[in-house]
Order: sequence, then structure tokens, then C-alpha cells
Amino acid sequence: MKEKVEQLKAEIEQFEVNSVETLEKFRIAFLGSKGALKDLFGELKTVANEQKREAGQLVNGLRQFAQEKFDAQKESLESVQDSGNKIDTTRPGDSLEVGSRHPLSLVRSEIIEIFSRIGFTVSEGPEIEDDWHNFSALNFPAEHPARDMQDTFFIEKGSDPKSEMALRTHTSSVQVRVMENEKPPIRTISPGRVYRNEAISARAHCFFHQVEGLYIDKDVSFADLKQTLMYFAKEMFGDKAQIRLRPSYFPFTEPSAEVDVSCTICNSKGCNVCKYTGWLEILGCGMVDPNVLESSNIDSTVYSGFAFGMGVERIAQLKYRVNDLRLYSENDVRFLKQFTAGY
Ligand code: DAH
Repeated sequence: MKEKVEQLKAEIEQFEVNSVETLEKFRIAFLGSKGALKDLFGELKTVANEQKREAGQLVNGLRQFAQEKFDAQKESLESVQDSGNKIDTTRPGDSLEVGSRHPLSLVRSEIIEIFSRIGFTVSEGPEIEDDWHNFSALNFPAEHPARDMQDTFFIEKGSDPKSEMALRTHTSSVQVRVMENEKPPIRTISPGRVYRNEAISARAHCFFHQVEGLYIDKDVSFADLKQTLMYFAKEMFGDKAQIRLRPSYFPFTEPSAEVDVSCTICNSKGCNVCKYTGWLEILGCGMVDPNVLESSNIDSTVYSGFAFGMGVERIAQLKYRVNDLRLYSENDVRFLKQFTAGY
């Protein structure tokens, strides 16, 4: 009897319970009405009277042992299930914090979209540029002030300007790269970041963004330029937007102009953003200088073209009324998360 109890105790101990099903198997095997303990209690009858008391205690102890294991396992299985049951499937899920697009990225996309509707492709160039693409091919005279250390972040400055490397000061450099690599007709815009050695303030920054435009074909005229810019202004700022062109100078265009758009903030009535003039400058433009075409091996007696360059921060300022340039690069989430609406 004693041996049997010992053996059964070992079996009970080793029996692995890891699920509701194995727990039930355990119950049937040891505690059930046809289980091993029932048999053992049956055998008690055959034990000699003087040993009955001791044998009875052993079997009872074993039953208690089995029952305790059963209870403990049951409880631990239920607690696992319980915690599972606490999930309320009707509760709305935790919302994920979704980032928002940067205002400059939104404006950039919108500019690309507007020009792509009239057949402009997108082209890009490097931010580290050589003298040729940033200055020389664009007809900058050797002594032009824009080449001066004041404005340009030079990376390599040599005795020979042709070997100089700099952070590009404008996206007009991409014009040159496109003209070198493609044959007219060319219709492209080049968005990108540019750098100038300026003190950072609300109105100036050492880096900002531009979108360059270039259109080269036979018989391209100033009227085409005006009409393209007019189309852009109305798409960007609404049907009521007006533009005006003021004569200007750029080395790479002749004639050149600066373009103002009617102030969308005060409807041209005059406010502090447009300095009470009703107009805001948004870009520079002109007919591509024949020297620039020739520098890139485009026959200026056959082809003509226009170019323009606009500041993305400026357009964003007018669209979103952000009047401090520093906000665009400070990564303040309170600022950045305001620009999701509508997109
Ligand atoms: N590159 C000029 C700037 O950075 C902007 C510009 C003016 C671009 C006239 C042009 C242009 O393509 O024709 O201020």
C-alpha cells in the first residue's frame, strides 16, 4: 500500500498541467469517480485491520495532495483567462499619434502639382555645387557680388574660381544641369534647398527653399512667361489673385522682372504684411539670356526660353500667414501640427 501511495504521488507530481484540457485529464486520472484514488480507497477494504488507520491516513493525505495541485492549477489557469477577459472589444482603440506634413513640403507639392498640369516635369540637382553651375554658366561676371564670401558658403576656395565648390545659392544651378543633359523642348521645375551666408532673423535665414522654372522651345515669348505666372498665381492664391511685373536685373535673364502678387491677406487694401502697398513680391523671372543658352550648347538663334525662381517660404507665408522664417526649421510640434487640414 505504502509503495502504491508513493508511486501515485510521484505520478501526480509529474503530471504536467498547462491548459484547461490537461487539467481535466488530471482530474479524471486522479480525482474522478474512476480515478486512481478511487481505486486506492477501494483497496483500503482489503487492508488488515491493524494497518487500516495508517493506510487510511496515507491515502487521505494523497487525495489532499492531488486536490491541492488541482485547485492551484485551476486558479492559475483562470487568472490567465481572466486577464484576457478584461479586454473590452467594444472600446475605441488607442489612436496612433500620426505625424503631419511640414508646411514647406505641402507648398512644394502644391507648386509641383500646379506646374505638372501644364506639362512641367520635376528635376533636381546637388546642393554642393561647382562654380560653373552656380555662377559661371549663368552669366555671372567674375566680380559679381553674389560670388563674394558674404553671401556664399564656400566649401573649397581656390585661386582659380573654376575649381571652387560651394553650397548652391539658388536653384538656378539646376537649369544649367538640365540644359546640359536634355534637348529642347524643355519644360521643368526644380525644387530644392539653397544656402546663403546670412544672419538668421525673422526675415532671413542661412538656408531656405526655392522652386526654379525653365521653359525652352522655339518661339517662346515674354507673353508665355506672363501667362504661365498668371496661371500659377490664380491656382495658388485663388481666382481673384492679380500679378504685376516690375523690371529688374539678373545676370541670367534679359529682360528680367520681379513679380508681385496682390496681397491675399488684406485683399490689396493694405496691411502690415504687404507694407500697405497691396502687393507682395513672390519671384524673379525673365527670358533666358542667350549667353546662358550658348553656355549649355543650345543654339540661341533657334531656341528661346523663360526662367523663374520663387521662394517656397514666401509662398507658404502668404498661404499660412507665417511671418517668422525661423519657425520653419525649429521643429516645434505645436507649430508643425497645424498644417494637416485639407491634406
Ligand atoms: N536665382 C534667383 C535668386 O536666387 C531667382 C531667379 C530670378 C531665378 C530670375 C530665375 C530667374 O530663373 O529667371 O534670387
